[in-house]
Amino acid sequence: MASTRGEFSSRFGFIMAAAGSAVGLGNIWGFPTQAASNGGAAFLLVYLVLAFSLAYPALMAELIIGRHAHANAVSALRLISPGALTRRIGMSTGIIGFIVASLILSFYGIVAGWMIAYFLASLAELLGLDGAAGWLTTFGLPRNVLFMLVFMVLTVGIISEGVREGIERWSSRLMPILLVTLLLLVAYVLTLDGATDGLKVYLLPDFERVLSPKLIISALGAAFFSLSLGVGTMLIYGSYVSDRENLPALGGMVTLVDISIAVLAGFLVLPAMYVALNNGVEIFNASGALISEDTLIFTVLPALFDTMGTAGVVVSLTFFFLMSIAALTSSISMLEVPVAYTIEEHGVSRKTAVVIIGALIAGVSTLILLNFGELFGFVIALTTRYSQPLLGFMFCIYAGWIWHRDSLLQELRKGYPEVERGLFWKIWPAYVRVVCPVIILAIFAQSIWG
Ligand code: PHE
Repeated sequence: MASTRGEFSSRFGFIMAAAGSAVGLGNIWGFPTQAASNGGAAFLLVYLVLAFSLAYPALMAELIIGRHAHANAVSALRLISPGALTRRIGMSTGIIGFIVASLILSFYGIVAGWMIAYFLASLAELLGLDGAAGWLTTFGLPRNVLFMLVFMVLTVGIISEGVREGIERWSSRLMPILLVTLLLLVAYVLTLDGATDGLKVYLLPDFERVLSPKLIISALGAAFFSLSLGVGTMLIYGSYVSDRENLPALGGMVTLVDISIAVLAGFLVLPAMYVALNNGVEIFNASGALISEDTLIFTVLPALFDTMGTAGVVVSLTFFFLMSIAALTSSISMLEVPVAYTIEEHGVSRKTAVVIIGALIAGVSTLILLNFGELFGFVIALTTRYSQPLLGFMFCIYAGWIWHRDSLLQELRKGYPEVERGLFWKIWPAYVRVVCPVIILAIFAQSIWG
């Protein structure tokens, strides 16, 4: 089986693919927006602590299980389970994971479609096609369905090419472009009047807010979503890593890239908000809260770009290009979860699996768009607030309690023979067994009853 499966060709290829999955709308939109509405630097601080101390250990749980099994989450959890009951629960966890990954893609594809529409709108504006630009930036069913489909076709096209030719090749191309685009935008925004006010909010912590439960919960949710945890994405990417690689080091690199890009995006979005404020764009309401936490990117930023004349159109074009790329390297990792499962468990060819599953997910997206008011927020909450933490909890339990410790250690030794002497093995087992599950449950309880 392992020989017919794909495998990343190099360490660089894996890091680009996994970082590509991790870096997405969650980093460039979610993180800065949440930072802006949760006291800037206070949020940044908590986010950094949680990402390294909780999200990284949870990421490692998925990567190690995946690499050990060289298979999708359903087979992998079955493989490491010693008894019939744990096997059955493990397989159900894998199946729920692939359903959740598909549901995340169904709303992510809608938002990513808007990014493409806004990108094209800037292009239309540059060409003097104001009517088209207006249509592209107006919320409407035909526009929403059309661009969701465009985005899904791109995602399906890449995934149908497989691990090396599709995922790895495109992530390795797109991630450097993303980084350069982001750096250019940050450098530009920091030269504008008002940017330093944003920097102050972003970098000077208000220590009183650091301990607020709302802040801690949003920061943990952001870290889990941002590292693509709890749906089997990282497990399946781990399953394409060769046995020669040192997994704790690879996972560490991915975490570092993911966090750095989120932090860097904060240097773009927070200063941009205050530049907007400086240019007369309303961003806070009377009580000092952000007026449009959910729509910051589609309201505040375009309003800012509008005040900047032609330069604003170019900046807007670049910005939405960046967002579209970030979304694409994440969406392919979501689609790979159900696709790998279908190929491996049902013997379907990759091309067939990709087309059928892609069409089903596009169908669900259309359903969401037809009932936008009721379904959009509901699907986001169901998947990111409830399912992801709970499934992340299950992966930690399987890595920490169900899987035999000797077999786990042997797996780690493959690319890291001296693992027992390193810091990772001294700290990680306790985290994955106790710290992560307890904290995830606490957050889960808070998000239900809080
Ligand atoms: N990590 C992605 C982001 O930050 C989202 C994602 C979630 C990707 C779950 C894959 C699986 O946007």
